[in-house]
Amino acid sequence: MESKKSNLHVLLVSFPAQGHINPLLRLAKCLASKGFLVTFSTTETIGHLMKEATNAKSCKIGHGELRFEFFSEGWEINEPQRANLGAWIHQLETVGRESFTALVNRQSQMGRPSVSCIINNPFVPWATDVAAELGIPCAVLWVQSCAVYSIYYHFQHQLATFPNPDQRDMTINLPSLPSQEFDDIPDFLTLNPYDSLRKVILSQFENLDKSFCVLVDSFEELERETIEVMSRISAPIIPIGPLFKSTNDASSVRGDIWKATDDCLQWLDSQSPNSVIYISFGSVVSLSKEQLEELSAGLLKSGTPFLWVLKTPPINVGSKPELPDGFKEEAEGKGMVVEWCPQEQVLAHSAVSCFLTHCGWNSSMECLTSGVPVIAFPQWGDQNTNAKLLIDAYGVGVRMKKTQKDGTAVVTRDEVERCIFEVTKGARAEEIKKNARKWKEAAEVAVAGSSHRNIELFVADILRMHG
Ligand code: UDX
Repeated sequence: MESKKSNLHVLLVSFPAQGHINPLLRLAKCLASKGFLVTFSTTETIGHLMKEATNAKSCKIGHGELRFEFFSEGWEINEPQRANLGAWIHQLETVGRESFTALVNRQSQMGRPSVSCIINNPFVPWATDVAAELGIPCAVLWVQSCAVYSIYYHFQHQLATFPNPDQRDMTINLPSLPSQEFDDIPDFLTLNPYDSLRKVILSQFENLDKSFCVLVDSFEELERETIEVMSRISAPIIPIGPLFKSTNDASSVRGDIWKATDDCLQWLDSQSPNSVIYISFGSVVSLSKEQLEELSAGLLKSGTPFLWVLKTPPINVGSKPELPDGFKEEAEGKGMVVEWCPQEQVLAHSAVSCFLTHCGWNSSMECLTSGVPVIAFPQWGDQNTNAKLLIDAYGVGVRMKKTQKDGTAVVTRDEVERCIFEVTKGARAEEIKKNARKWKEAAEVAVAGSSHRNIELFVADILRMHG
């Protein structure tokens, strides 16, 4: 059986963004640990920023092997047109697709087994078409919640009426999900800030029948009803998460686009248990200057020690966020600001008491299943729905509320201070901590049980398809 697996070659292709690379790479490690030859692929521009991965080129994991090979979308990272999202997505779907097809085809000429299975993710729907053209079985890893999958599916198939920007009072009710208000719905479907991304996301649902299964980085105990409902009306949904827990020991190769500052772990070692607020907004969100001012003032007012990730955007679409004048001096000895950190290790650290997060699905899963209470500050896309789930459905924190200040909606310094207090010391703090512990335990049960079984069944499917 093991020698058969090493003759089978699984190729994973990720949209070139950290929030997509992480879950795909975790699955790649997991499959390599089961004995397969696994190639992880994304675009060259982002691939070359994944320094650990590119330096490693390939590594043995268990009886299998994980290797990295990238394809070109024909534009360099600093190409000015790259800042135009629509033009870049088009370039990816045309030049990138051609170069990816060549990558798949050349595997057998390089002395490796030809590709037996392709796994793509929602923002590269064209990879499913490449697989179909080449006669290669294809699976999808949905990297967001099953709830969000359900919302997009209902929208795309017109199974529910969604509000437009003039219908902010309208709520939607979908089977098994809490009632969604305007601000809880992924805004690709309401305000539509990035039309090209909306088209890419929705086009995934047009060719779902070309995939032999839809894997999801979630777990049965968390989204059982939604998984059941969606498996009945769309394709079977197979929960295999939380992937970051399933693969913790498989390999240390990380796919970070930024260099992580490990010093922050030593700094956390020097802090009291349950005392530090961890703040991060994932890989794409940048806050306005006004919002940074309010956030930093609220943080100082609260007197809570903090670890804050403030990254420079990876491509030429933004500049390094500036902290307000005097903040560094005032914050001296009270906290640490870093460009990037090993987030899973930070969340697992006993000094961390809560996570102020933008609620990307990876961050949501990582904190929920590490038992860390949340202060939710969603910005766009699925983050809105994730915040709703974390706060209202899972009961693990509070959501910060915006108010109008000089004509702009911001979370004020008082609100920041209030939320930190409520989650760490307020009347509901104990209940929130108890819920957070409950989800951590549920995730552990899934990793050893339902998700583990589902991964084994997926492996068996790949083997069966190759006789
Ligand atoms: C975005 C969307 O917000 C998310 O919902 C979607 O599923 C993918 O695209 P992003 O905004 O980057 O993702 O957030 P998130 O999903 O939370 O992913 C960020 C990843 O970077 C996490 O896995 C997190 O652990 C990692 N990270 C973040 C670090 O390793 N170090 C850091 O300092 C910050």
